[in-house]
Amino acid sequence: LVLVVDFGAQYAQLIARRVREARVYSEIVPHTMPVADMLARNPKAIILSGGPSSVYAEGAPSIDTSLFTAGTPVFGMCYGFQLMARGLGGEVSHTGAREYGRTEVTVTEPGTLLSDVPTSHRVWMSHGDSVTAAPEGFSVLASTAVTPVAAFEDVDRGLAGVQWHPEVLHSEHGQQVLEHFLHSIAGCRPTWTMVNIVEEQIEAIRAQVGERGRAICGLSGGVDSAVAAAIVQRAIGDRLTCVYVDHGLMRQGETEQVERDFVAATGVDLKVVDAEERFLSALAGISDPEEKRKTIGREFIRVFEGARAEILAGFVEQSTAEEGDKVAFLVQGTLYPDVVESGGGAGTSNIKSHHNVGGLPDDMDLELVEPLRTLFKDEVRQVGEQLGLPAEIVHRQPFPGPGLGIRIIGEVTRERLDILRQADAIAREEMTRAGLDRDVWQMPVVLLADVRSVGVQGDGRTYGHPVVLRPVTSEDAMTADWARLPYEVMEKISTRITNEVADVNRVTVDITSKPPGTIEWE
Ligand code: XMP
Repeated sequence: LVLVVDFGAQYAQLIARRVREARVYSEIVPHTMPVADMLARNPKAIILSGGPSSVYAEGAPSIDTSLFTAGTPVFGMCYGFQLMARGLGGEVSHTGAREYGRTEVTVTEPGTLLSDVPTSHRVWMSHGDSVTAAPEGFSVLASTAVTPVAAFEDVDRGLAGVQWHPEVLHSEHGQQVLEHFLHSIAGCRPTWTMVNIVEEQIEAIRAQVGERGRAICGLSGGVDSAVAAAIVQRAIGDRLTCVYVDHGLMRQGETEQVERDFVAATGVDLKVVDAEERFLSALAGISDPEEKRKTIGREFIRVFEGARAEILAGFVEQSTAEEGDKVAFLVQGTLYPDVVESGGGAGTSNIKSHHNVGGLPDDMDLELVEPLRTLFKDEVRQVGEQLGLPAEIVHRQPFPGPGLGIRIIGEVTRERLDILRQADAIAREEMTRAGLDRDVWQMPVVLLADVRSVGVQGDGRTYGHPVVLRPVTSEDAMTADWARLPYEVMEKISTRITNEVADVNRVTVDITSKPPGTIEWE
């Protein structure tokens, strides 16, 4: 275990991922955690992240210097580097020289940390203060035009640091530098693999659920819930029941795919609840986006609770569990970024009310099983592959819980859903055919159901609806750019949709980034 101490940088998650890419397990902890608690977790090494502030700023986050003398290897990056320098008696000064963005660094002495790294290479910097003298016992390894001490190490004590951000892709050889620290200085062995994870999780789930416990899982068709369910199924077999609520707002073939492919791959006990009627009547007459989302979310929870109560009533009756024994569990596909973010407690404004499958139970005594709590999305995909899930599920692009309901601008009706489903199926087919599925993050197809425009087809005038293609690239959906699709692909999609889908006579492309736009239209 390597701990990444978060000093308020958006980089902490990235660092944790890079450590795992070096095949060493890592977790993020806040800088407010007492050093004794960090050490109590017995980490093989500790990494101090960058941070937004100057070490001299009032209220700047700090760390007890006992960390540096505890015998555990420590690596400082950017702000963490300066904290280490200052904490051990080096000098950090406001030199007035700032470096932001790409910077040329010169390796003056490679040492262990920078061995085999080119003498001159470009790294990503973002700092105002500079280390002007290294603490005693350290060798200085690199400098830049304005920073005399840009990297140092004291291999005997297992301490090292760099002024730059080796975790970002713009820093050349960043991963190499990180691995030199982890493998050569801290002596961490590169043994973390997804195979271990699957086995450990299966053990942990068996221990948690016990001999008699039963679990229920809401499947959305997305990657996270599918992988979570597949792991739990491996652990407890048919004591897991999955529930898939078909709200009638899915894309063409999606429900069938879950029923067929997922069950075939996992052997899971799946209960599909057909609730199309119920959702469509609840949505009748509603065009306001938030009202739609709330309606879908509310109905979803009701249907899911109904199914859950029914399934669990059976369990509880059968069970002869002793007082206090948990018998009922709810499986959720919560990921590590959600855990870190909710622990950070930073309030973010509610741009759209998202809904997650299942929601949190408030009325029933269910204990959560969250086998993906420590994993990043790309790791979840690897686990999915490990478990033999089909690529269509493992590499599926994100799809919102409220489904096509928020891709019809205007009231949601069955006719409109059918139109959108046809257009969307064509767009997806052509994207796959052009091999673009992994190049775009996702491509919502939106039906402007309340808009009509005049067109001409054959010899006749048409008065149909436009659809919007919204291809985006993104790393985490927090920000996004519009994807530059090849013209031929757009042309093919446009021609096919206008030819094959009655009522659609125009295809447009959304070229707005996020911000200011969002990915979905509602
Ligand atoms: P926006 O439109 O906010 O979307 O830029 C960001 C990402 O979230 C997806 N999305 C949702 N996912 N429930 C979900 O599970 C929701 O209610 C929901 N709304 C949007 C969207 O597809 C994109 O990937």
